[in-house]
Amino acid sequence: MSDKVEPQETVGREATVDGAVSSTAAGGAGGDEAAVAARVQELRDLIRYHQYRYYVLDDPELSDAEFDKLFGELQALEEAHPELRSDDSPTVRVGGLVSDRFEKTRHPTPMLSLANAFSEEDLFAWRERVKRLLSEEEERARLVYVLEPKFDGLTVVLHYEQGRFTLGATRGDGVLGENITPNLRTVRELPLHIPVDPRRGVAAPARLVVRGEAYVEKVDFEAFNRRQIAQEERTFANPRNFAAGSLRQLDSRISAGRPVKLWVYQVLVLEGGAALATQSGALAYLADLGLPVYPDVRRYADADFETLVEAVAAFGARRHDLPFEVDGVVIKVDDLAQQAQLGFTGKDPRWAIAYKFSGQEEVTRLLDIVLNVGRTGVVTPNAVLEPVQIGGVTVSKATLHNEDYIKALDIRVGDQVLVKRAGDVIPKVLRPLVELRSGDEQPWQMPATCPTCGQPLVRPEGEAATYCVNNACPAQLVRLVEHFVGRGAMDVEGFGIRQAELFVERGYIHDLADIYALPWDEIRQLEGYGDKRVENLQAGVEASKQRPLARLLTGLGIRYVGSVVAELLMAHFASLDALMAAPAEELNRIDGIGPRIAASVVDYFSLQPNRDLVRRLAEAGVRTADLDRPARPAAAAALSGKTFVITGTLPALSRDEAKALIEAHGGKVTGSVSGKTDFLVVGENAGSKLDKATRLGVATLDEAGLLALVASGPEPRTA
Ligand code: IVH
Repeated sequence: MSDKVEPQETVGREATVDGAVSSTAAGGAGGDEAAVAARVQELRDLIRYHQYRYYVLDDPELSDAEFDKLFGELQALEEAHPELRSDDSPTVRVGGLVSDRFEKTRHPTPMLSLANAFSEEDLFAWRERVKRLLSEEEERARLVYVLEPKFDGLTVVLHYEQGRFTLGATRGDGVLGENITPNLRTVRELPLHIPVDPRRGVAAPARLVVRGEAYVEKVDFEAFNRRQIAQEERTFANPRNFAAGSLRQLDSRISAGRPVKLWVYQVLVLEGGAALATQSGALAYLADLGLPVYPDVRRYADADFETLVEAVAAFGARRHDLPFEVDGVVIKVDDLAQQAQLGFTGKDPRWAIAYKFSGQEEVTRLLDIVLNVGRTGVVTPNAVLEPVQIGGVTVSKATLHNEDYIKALDIRVGDQVLVKRAGDVIPKVLRPLVELRSGDEQPWQMPATCPTCGQPLVRPEGEAATYCVNNACPAQLVRLVEHFVGRGAMDVEGFGIRQAELFVERGYIHDLADIYALPWDEIRQLEGYGDKRVENLQAGVEASKQRPLARLLTGLGIRYVGSVVAELLMAHFASLDALMAAPAEELNRIDGIGPRIAASVVDYFSLQPNRDLVRRLAEAGVRTADLDRPARPAAAAALSGKTFVITGTLPALSRDEAKALIEAHGGKVTGSVSGKTDFLVVGENAGSKLDKATRLGVATLDEAGLLALVASGPEPRTA
């Protein structure tokens, strides 16, 4: 049978609707015409209802066999009685109507788009605007918002006349859409006839036009692509393209074989139906008619706007757990009269805003693969990409991780590749679009030698990483210098990768201590290095000599010793000499320091060149000891019992690092500001949490303030 229901567990389930498994006597040849017509009608209603239970509610009442029996009976009757065929019969979902082009159809109202918000500030600004525009205090007082997912699929407009699905179109240019009715008929969640369950007591409206999103679930998309690859057929870049491609088929039999689903979220026209006052009420009404409505749409009073903003962030964090893709959330004013009062600007309603999540994916061409040598000698293959906009940022480089990653995915130079950017994480190449290959793409081999120093590259057995093991490799030194002068370490103003490259290349820097012995007169002769610039650079280098010990330790670039670990270590030792003298067991006893870190530190300082480096830094005037550090209260007491919230981007610490640091010193970190919060740690682009903290009178700290608070914790040890 063409409308085969997927196999499923149906143990012990019985038909519960009267007549569901009744005899087929009426269909027999020579049966009374009226009885046949009645039975056909009855079967259609039953099948619609059971499809709704299966596809929309995900709660079937019939076993597959029972359902198939009903469906088979209807098909047989329609075959025997062509005069009873109807295009809203459930049997016509199988497709087959072929058109040679899509007709254009005019939408009953222009299909507007949504203004975007990219930050919490944007959401607060939108709310303020809404409140400003609602002139009456009383109007403002009853403001309620609804929060809906922003479904990432193909926008569709669906028309029902007297309960029958009559027309379905794409959004098109917003005024004219493409008529894809035969294809939409194959979408099983789309009722061809409403109401689906007459027993709910909701009558069909005379006319209903709704807007929705056709989509494909992630698992179905992946399964489809896997099958296509196995058959060497074309794949789709993402579920959205798959949904759109499936519905924009000229032969609806192709659409019928595709797992397209549907959510509806807006009433565009309603005549002769319920009186709707709110968006949430409209959604409930659509659900009552049997249309697929996302079940978890939430309402928030204006007084709870902060909670709404937190819910937006929480939704963003767990959006990947949803079975379908969302690219944001939509926040709408619930009251339809208020919506009308707010109106539109250009193409966007003022009563709604879309909050877009970052971390989207785009397709672009892989132009080349180049090697990047890190400060520890790890060689990372990087993609050179044709520049592409992802989430408002131009991306032209992305990581390819390692040799195995490229091999496993068969990534070739010249491929069209899918690239993902998630927050401030380095963009990555997800996979090649194999179906778009021309045949000119070139497979890639890890080179045998380091692109910088020419020495052989080594890949230790059992490791995915490849290394340049030449300690004198200038590329490693450049990266180490860049790290040392960087913001998380010695923070030398005006000194970045360019200067690191230049000074290493010119032979001014052979190790980190050379930074404090740069030939400034010679540098003044270099192009682009005028007096003022050199003066600033020199002052930056000079100022860095007084950085806290933990910054210096971070700058050395010891494996596993990032800023948090450095803080923990230097809270225990008042000098680098004391740290150098400590055996692994002693390091191990420090809260937050495990055997792996302890061994790494001990290994580093066991090498004479590294001990010499510390000595030379000290001789150059860099602070390597805190001999006058005051005695402090007992370990971990500094933050104990204190509750912290972190907001915005901190200059050196990541969120996780800041959290670990606070927790290692006895503090607690929570997600939202309340009366119980002791400190809000504030970074760049702080959001609503800062507003709230200010209102509640919660103390705020920047990163330096946090580090100072931490440093006043555990007992120091001097050498
Ligand atoms: S409401 C007047 N709600 O996102 C605008 N749109 O540019 C009414 N979309 O293609 C749209 N999920 O179709 C609304 N829950 C949702 C949505 C949603 C996805 C689509 C919309 C449009 C795009 C916005």
